[in-house]
Amino acid sequence: MTFDLDIKNTVRTIPDYPKPGILFRDITTLLADARAFRRAVDELVHPWAGSKIDKVAGIEARGFILGGAVAHQLSAGFVPIRKKGKLPHKTVSMSYALEYGTDEMEMHVDAVQPGERVILVDDLIATGGTAEGAVKLLRQIGATVVAACFIIDLPDLGGAAKLRALDVPVRSLIAFD
Ligand code: HPA
Repeated sequence: MTFDLDIKNTVRTIPDYPKPGILFRDITTLLADARAFRRAVDELVHPWAGSKIDKVAGIEARGFILGGAVAHQLSAGFVPIRKKGKLPHKTVSMSYALEYGTDEMEMHVDAVQPGERVILVDDLIATGGTAEGAVKLLRQIGATVVAACFIIDLPDLGGAAKLRALDVPVRSLIAFD
């Protein structure tokens, strides 16, 4: 894709973070670059221009930054999917797989109406545990998950394949091996 290098070059790679042997893809440098940020949001939005999207669901915390911008551009509502205990009203929750063990994520029970068309947004998909939990959570309250969208895919970690196995179309802008 023609935008690939532009956007890719603005992602900073931090070796050995948070643990030795991990190459951490840091998107704060992309977000701080006005052209790259706009480009990334435009490209995330592009396939949905002209189709009805009711809500954009963003996964805490980096998914909030991108999801808010995407929702604004689509004239859709924004729905936060948060770590357990952060949302004040009645919630639904879903456990999800971490590298070691599990955790729980929540959303407000009335954040999406049954049948509403929702796009899930996060900055990066790795093993897909969080995104898979988010899809299940959205479906639990009757949402139609139209797609899951990410700036970065780490395909070797299998997350995108995991979502596609759940019949969720996955779109990412760039990949790192
Ligand atoms: N960057 C940001 N978040 C992540 C990464 C990464 O490289 N791997 C797993 N989660």
